[in-house]
Amino acid sequence: MRAEDPRPVRLSEYRPSDFLIDEVHLDFRLDPNATQVTARLRMRPNPAGDAGAALKLDGDELKLVSVAIDGAKLDAEALDVSPESLVIANPPRGAFELEIVTEIDPEANTRLMGLYRSNRSYCTQCEAEGFRRITYFLDRPDVLAVYTTRIEGPADECPLLLSNGEMIENGPAGEGRHYAVWRDPWPKPSYLFALVAGDLGVVEDRFVTMSGRDVALKVFVEHGQEHRALHAMESIKASMKWDEEAFGREYDLGVFMVVAVSHFNMGAMENKGLNVFNDKYVLASPETATDGDYANIEAIIAHEYFHNWTGDRITCRDWFQLCLKEGLTVFRDQEFTSDRRSRPVKRIQDVRNLRALQFAEDAGPLAHPVRPQIYHEINNFYTPTVYEKGAEVIRMLKTWIGEDAFRAGMDLYFDRHDGQACTIEQFVACFAETSGRDLTQWMRWYDQAGTPEVTVRTAYDADAKTFAVETQQITRPTPGQPEKRPVVIPMTLGLVGPDGADMPLIVGGAPAEPVFTLAEETTRIVFENVAERPVPSLFRNFSAPVKLDSDVSDEDLLFLAGHDSDPFNRWQAVQTVALRHLVAAAAAVREGRETPVDPRLAEAVGRAFDPEERDCAFAAQVASLPSEGDIAREIAQDVDPDAIHRARDDLKRALRARLADALSAAYARLAYDGPYSPDAASAGHRSLRIAALDLLAAGGDAEGLALAMTLYKSAENMTDRVMSMQVLSLHAGAEREEALADFAGRYGHDPLLMDKWFLIQASAPLPDAVDRVEGLMASPAFDMRNPNRVRSLIGAFGSGNPTQFNRPDGRGYALVAGVAAELNSTNPQVAARLLGAFRTWRALEPNRRGRAETALRGLAGMPNLSPDVRDIVRRALS
Ligand code: ARG
Ligand code: ZN
Repeated sequence: MRAEDPRPVRLSEYRPSDFLIDEVHLDFRLDPNATQVTARLRMRPNPAGDAGAALKLDGDELKLVSVAIDGAKLDAEALDVSPESLVIANPPRGAFELEIVTEIDPEANTRLMGLYRSNRSYCTQCEAEGFRRITYFLDRPDVLAVYTTRIEGPADECPLLLSNGEMIENGPAGEGRHYAVWRDPWPKPSYLFALVAGDLGVVEDRFVTMSGRDVALKVFVEHGQEHRALHAMESIKASMKWDEEAFGREYDLGVFMVVAVSHFNMGAMENKGLNVFNDKYVLASPETATDGDYANIEAIIAHEYFHNWTGDRITCRDWFQLCLKEGLTVFRDQEFTSDRRSRPVKRIQDVRNLRALQFAEDAGPLAHPVRPQIYHEINNFYTPTVYEKGAEVIRMLKTWIGEDAFRAGMDLYFDRHDGQACTIEQFVACFAETSGRDLTQWMRWYDQAGTPEVTVRTAYDADAKTFAVETQQITRPTPGQPEKRPVVIPMTLGLVGPDGADMPLIVGGAPAEPVFTLAEETTRIVFENVAERPVPSLFRNFSAPVKLDSDVSDEDLLFLAGHDSDPFNRWQAVQTVALRHLVAAAAAVREGRETPVDPRLAEAVGRAFDPEERDCAFAAQVASLPSEGDIAREIAQDVDPDAIHRARDDLKRALRARLADALSAAYARLAYDGPYSPDAASAGHRSLRIAALDLLAAGGDAEGLALAMTLYKSAENMTDRVMSMQVLSLHAGAEREEALADFAGRYGHDPLLMDKWFLIQASAPLPDAVDRVEGLMASPAFDMRNPNRVRSLIGAFGSGNPTQFNRPDGRGYALVAGVAAELNSTNPQVAARLLGAFRTWRALEPNRRGRAETALRGLAGMPNLSPDVRDIVRRALS
């Protein structure tokens, strides 16, 4: 562990590196406990750096064997070396070659950063600062070098030796060992380095690029799992094609490889030419994967592939610019999915996700800007704010400057900055140029944390035939940012007439575009020639990541739900009415009152199950009520999770009572057979059927549970099996136990399926959840060293089970804090991530708030806190 409270890193203190590295030659002698790494670095002083500076290289838990400059060994006196750094006080003032030999222990690497073992394979994870766990290096993204990598290992255990770029040589190395040499011609930062060695199965295919170059495609998985890699392979080809069509981006090596590993801290990693994936996001077959798995794999394969241009060819100058590659690449993968599946449904899913994760983060003590200005531990900034809000800011920019200027700006960015390590300013400057707009104020989206709240008040003047829309924006203080200034908010708006059609928008005597700019604290727009009172449809397609409070009545919203030409706002209208009801109902529960359900709300939800409804995936979204988290965020303070749960449950029961016939009819009508296909239409069909089932089983209704049990037993695909088990798991009783036991019996041998089993039990809102999770932690299928297991059981409990995590007796907090304490030393990154469950603790009612605080303070007082955990705990308590 590092010393107490190291100095934070600040954006304002960025300085170019004093040295550059042009070429890197790496030589790995693989050994489970003593891998030798020889790094030969062609270095020179950076003209932009400090002439005469000492050479200070980063390390992390490293053991130095030797150092030489231009072939001459340096002795100990010439060096200042520790596991964390290597300083050479007087390096040559011109170009030189530095040779460093280190020894590392992949087997002992439980942090899964640097070179480690997963099952019997060797693999690496270097982003953000893992390369320094392999060799001493200028481990910063603005040092770009060309890498040649020689890997030598036992031929039997590691028939496969992979690294970035293309293989240029291989052969025997004596004593049952062999070697391969890889060369990556594209300069890259160290965080994009990768090595994989082991005995894996492979699926191969090829892709011909738009200029006619042939690319070999390879997906590596454990032997016997090859049939589960076909969907990933199809997704690679689709991604390559889409990036050519949508952005004119062509792949740039002769081979593109994806490797699935079972121990991985995150989702996946975009190492140049050699993407390393969490196996959860590669493996899929009709027998083992749900519709959601298929969709996730497609999206994450695309995300990592798209990084080849937004991340690899153009990378970040420093880690404060992380959203330069992540926000942009999320935006690109969202667009890919929208083009392949349903654009409105994808938008709804993304906004649900943004609100659930990013709005929650922005409203609590861990709030930070899309581009942070300070960090203690960069691993803690791979957040929904950097990723998802980062993507929203780009989407909003596109809305604001228009499609053509946006596309031209992207072209300019690729053109101008290819091969560079860039800043957000350089990215935004491209769009300022192509749009001709001043984007100075726009930068506040990157620098100011918090979700802007927009209040809209409207007035129709029947005599003057005008419709006035008045807006006000505020952003509440966030940690370190007490004062906020207005941001540029594009509001896409429509006025819907009594016939349901959009009315013309006339402002100042002329037709107006539907995108209005709210750049001041208040704005007033007056529409003219408005023949009849319109219903305003505000922030169509969620044109900005803001929280909206409007005076549009429930009645008008329900009118929009049936008529708005914008599908997003048809969905949003029902959500808003439901949310208003649920907030009132949760307050009423605490006062022992009941809140009647507006029959028009039930009717609007019921329309999702209408036989006429063609778009099942969209209808399923309409039928899915706001989550308990959505309700808690809306309430914002003195939150009682039990009251929220009760209110939501009551609403589901009321909907069941009112809609029983329609639900039963829909459930029967939506039955299907035939072979499984994960395509969007089939998946949408299944999701609507499950939405009907979920409502039919509301309140533990016996008939509903019987239907769920029948579906569970007769399921012919994993979606139906998992989703029916999930419905059953919400209601204590024999059916629940029977399904869970059956599932474990069938799939006990498959860790990824057992993850679903863990997750469903961990997130069930039943009073025995803590005991269950504790019991499951002791089960043979659980493994504290595997991040997927930990996230499925403890992560799902902390972030997906509001009533039980927030138990009034504090046992839920103690459970999650206890696991984080245990993982603090073995895998601090995963430990810190689990503590994300505490990000909204300050909004709770006083008793729970006190208990959450006790759990956090307990962690804060632990000796040997990792930088990762210490950073989260300290910020959460600040
Ligand atoms: N760049 C990866 C992505 O595609 C994520 C890597 C995160 N790594 C980490 N150590 N936090 O989003
Ligand atoms: Zn990414």
